[in-house]
This record gives sequence, structure tokens and C-alpha cells, in this order.
Amino acid sequence: MGAIRRIGVLTGGGDCPGLNAVIRAVTKCAIMEHQLEVWGIADGFLGLIHNRVRRLVIDDVVNILRHGGTILGTTNQARPRHYLEGKDAQGQPRYVDATDRVLHHIRDHRLDALVVIGGEGSMECAHDLAQQGVPIIGVPKTIDNDLMHTEVTFGFQTAVQTATEAIDRLQDTAASHHRVMLVETMGRNAGWLALHAGIAGAASAILIPEIPYRIEVLTKFLLGRVAEGKSSSIVVVAEGSVPIGGQQVMQEDRLGGVSHVLASQIAEQTGLDVRATILGHIQRGGSPSAYDRVLATVLGHAAIGLLTTQQCNRMVAVQGGRVTSVPLSQVAAVQRTIPPDCVEMQTARAIGVCFGD
Ligand code: F6P
Repeated sequence: MGAIRRIGVLTGGGDCPGLNAVIRAVTKCAIMEHQLEVWGIADGFLGLIHNRVRRLVIDDVVNILRHGGTILGTTNQARPRHYLEGKDAQGQPRYVDATDRVLHHIRDHRLDALVVIGGEGSMECAHDLAQQGVPIIGVPKTIDNDLMHTEVTFGFQTAVQTATEAIDRLQDTAASHHRVMLVETMGRNAGWLALHAGIAGAASAILIPEIPYRIEVLTKFLLGRVAEGKSSSIVVVAEGSVPIGGQQVMQEDRLGGVSHVLASQIAEQTGLDVRATILGHIQRGGSPSAYDRVLATVLGHAAIGLLTTQQCNRMVAVQGGRVTSVPLSQVAAVQRTIPPDCVEMQTARAIGVCFGD
């Protein structure tokens, strides 16, 4: 690997609080600490496919730390290896391998290395490019907190806070109307967001993908609460939750809607007054928490540290509370789900939270 003078930075996958904080840290550290040139790539890997790249200077990252979203734009639809480029003559989607185009544009801009800020899908694309000889450092982002080999991803803590505030509001309505309120959180096949927001929001029950539920267990639990004089209940449901032997609920091609299915089943089987709220993309936007701003800044700085010491094709990570790094090959295309011995889950069970099993 030659000396690194110009780096490209991109944000891939769903937006997440703290992306701008990483862009700012990467840009400032690269320019101020190492006198590198920084180039911002628009809309994730799409910008490398379509050659939308612009120089970033310090002024570009002033006053962005506290803002949600990403100043670079992002997409979760563009994988260079499998890029949807319009339709064929029969009107069917036409996928092409755009890797050569990406490599050409990287060379064209004389980018010596890339910082890829993204989740597991982006790390997979990054790993793929790294195997084509592009020096890359990944920075783990996702509100789902589901990246392997890092204890935490930036954005998660803010999303937990957002979901908790929503649950607090729903608690008011649940108590006033003596209702069961279902609150559906994001998280794909991992229940981290539901588990943490459920504990923080004092949910009575939490359903997560890692523990398939039985509807009879949940309805018995809710009726039991009524019998004890507790006239309202909050049930936090991760979007990927699934009944034993059943299927996840999809809306078009993505997870979503399980809380509405459950609401009908619970109302029918118990006669209780039930409502469902899908928090959706509310969980993704907004100003990052102080914790996420610090984490994102530290990880951005660590990414530049690795690049400038020629340690590439790795993702910065947090392990044992310390910043470290792991090979991209170990984090590409795998999801970190909640293990059975998770302390938060055991604690929730100990205080009477029902997991539907
Ligand atoms: O991975 C982040 C996430 O917000 C998931 O929790 C959710 O399932 C998905 O992205 C939704 O993505 P989209 O932006 O396509 O709606």
C-alpha cells in the first residue's frame, strides 16, 4: 500500500444519528492532523457508481455535529456487485456488476483509500472492494446495533432514547384509556432496540426476533395483569418478531406491521382494547445524543488513525469499552443478535417482563 494523500468518505445504508459527527471527525482529523485531502462521495456507493464526488474542506463540516441525517446523502439500494440499472426489454429489473465502474472512479479521483460509514450491508460492499485492492476502513453505524465484533454502534443510543420517549407518551394513553398499547420498533432480525427501549420505557412485555413468541402466552399474561388490577399494558414489539413456527410480517419488501397483526389477535382473543403504533423512521432521524456524538467522533478519529498507519481493510470497533478494530471479513454480511445470556434480557425477566415464550 502506497502513502495515503487523498481519501474518500461515504455514508451507506439507512441514515442514523451521528453520521455527520463521523464525517466531521474524519474530515477534521484527516486535514488538521495528517494534511490529507478529503473527498465526499454522494449517496453511498451510488456516488462511486455515478462518479458524484466532491472535495470536502473544514468549512463543509462546520455546524453539522448536532444534525441528524448525512450531509453526503445515502442509499440502501446500491450495491456495486448487484446494481439495479433500469429494466430490460421485457420490463424486468436489470442488475449489473458495477464494480469496474467504481474502481475506475476511485482511480479517476486518485483516491488512495476510503472510509465507509455504514452497517453490515455497507461493510459487505467495503470488504468486496477491499478485495479488489482498495484500502478501506469501515465505521460501524446503525440504530439496530447489530454489527458483529463491536459492542455498540453509534446511533443506537439516540434511537433507544427516541423510542423510549414515544413509549412514555403511549404510557399516558394506555393508562388513561385502560388499553394495551403495542409499540413496534425497528431492528431487522435483532431485538436490541426493542429490548433497551422496552426496559427504559417500563414495558410489560417485549417481543424480539431472537425469542419466537406464543400468542397464548402473551394473551394469558395480559389478562393476568387485568386480573391483578393493572388496567393498561405496554408491549414493545421488534419489527422482526415472529410466532413459533410462523413467518415475519412484511410490508412490500421490508419488515413491518407485526404489531397490527398482533393487535387484532390480542383484541379478538381477550376482548381488551388494543392499539398499535409503528414508530418507523422517527427512530432514525433527529439530533444525536451526546453519547453518540462522542462515540461517532472517537470512531471517526480512529478510522483516520488506522489509515495513516497503513492498517487497512478493517472496521473500527468497541470491545471491552475500548476502541479497537476487526478485519472487514469478520463483519461483512453477518448480524449480531441478542445472545441468551444477555444481561439486560435476564434483568428484564427478573423484573417480570414477559417475552412471550
Ligand atoms: O437497518 C436500519 C433500518 O432502520 C432497520 O431497522 C429497518 O428494518 C430498515 O432500516 C428500514 O429501511 P428503509 O430505509 O428501507 O425503510
